[in-house]
Amino acid sequence: MRVLGIETSCDETAAAIVERDDQGNGRILSNVVLSQIDDHAPYGGVVPEIAARAHVEVLDRLIGQALHEAQMTLDDVDAVAATAGPGLIGGLIVGLMTGKAIAMAGQKPFYAINHLEGHALTPRLTDRIDFPYLLLLVSGGHTQMVLVKGLGDYERLGTTIDDALGEAFDKTAKLLGLPYPGGPEVEKAALLGDPDRFTLPRPLKGEERLDFSFSGLKTAVRQLATTLEPLSQTDVNDICAAFQTAVADTLDDRVSRSLMRFRQSFPNVEDPALVVAGGVAANNVLRGCLQDLCSANGFRFIAPPMALCTDNAAMIAWAGAERANRTPPDSLDVAPRSRWPL
Ligand code: KG4
Ligand code: ZN
Repeated sequence: MRVLGIETSCDETAAAIVERDDQGNGRILSNVVLSQIDDHAPYGGVVPEIAARAHVEVLDRLIGQALHEAQMTLDDVDAVAATAGPGLIGGLIVGLMTGKAIAMAGQKPFYAINHLEGHALTPRLTDRIDFPYLLLLVSGGHTQMVLVKGLGDYERLGTTIDDALGEAFDKTAKLLGLPYPGGPEVEKAALLGDPDRFTLPRPLKGEERLDFSFSGLKTAVRQLATTLEPLSQTDVNDICAAFQTAVADTLDDRVSRSLMRFRQSFPNVEDPALVVAGGVAANNVLRGCLQDLCSANGFRFIAPPMALCTDNAAMIAWAGAERANRTPPDSLDVAPRSRWPL
């Protein structure tokens, strides 16, 4: 079964071909991603209208490239999967309509995929892991802890009540005059900074619920930066170090509670695993922190390769491949959804 996947929910245009054999093994035949970061950088964030137009301009060519790299034509594709949400509506329309058109013209089954399900199922493609497992998704648009119990069976344990974690990194960077996207810049500056000079809040730390909150942290950065103005490079480095330490500490608290919750729900799982996904998973300090937490609690820590942690179409194709032959295809009437909780 070879599936063409299409992803256009945010600022990456992506197409991929993934194969799934009868034993459930996956293989990526091609995975093409075109990032629009340069188009959005002058605005310090993703501009929906620019994103949608950029998807329209390049999607056909990217699909052609994905087929070419997989040494296939559309005739060799067994099914089509496209992201139907959640995300920016303009971009979703572009990818979903293109996927439907290809499926209709070729009379192939069509799967409308929830982007979050794509992230959630990726470790089954990369690491062949079995259900159930825990997923921590930390990206520019999402911060969620999800219990992945089975195909189509997901329980959201916690989510952000305000900013996503990547968004908090990006906004903090902007406040400090660092370029977009801010995550890597904050990490670099933090390496040079003193994490003990300032203490920033740890939102929701110690609370029983498993939600996240980051806007208070960002506000604290703003107040601190205003007090110190004009900021020296040392000030910026020290604030970034304090910010990252506060994030790590908060994650530690939220995630360790989630690991406990997993144990309560599945006391008989012998080899429990925590999977991390999303662009923020590129952060070495946070990764190290999650790794330590997993080791201390007897959990396997799985971080798929970075190219599959961030937005891509291989995860969408894979979600389609997992569903193919197990759930009925979706109707071509399916509509894009900017909000679509798992
Ligand atoms: O998953 P992703 O590539 O895209 C979407 O959110 O759609 O995530 C991008 C986010 C951005 O907010 C970016 O600042 C953050 O991931 N990010 C990082 C790092 N690299 C990327 N955050 C913290 N540390 C990093 N090294
Ligand atoms: Zn994503």
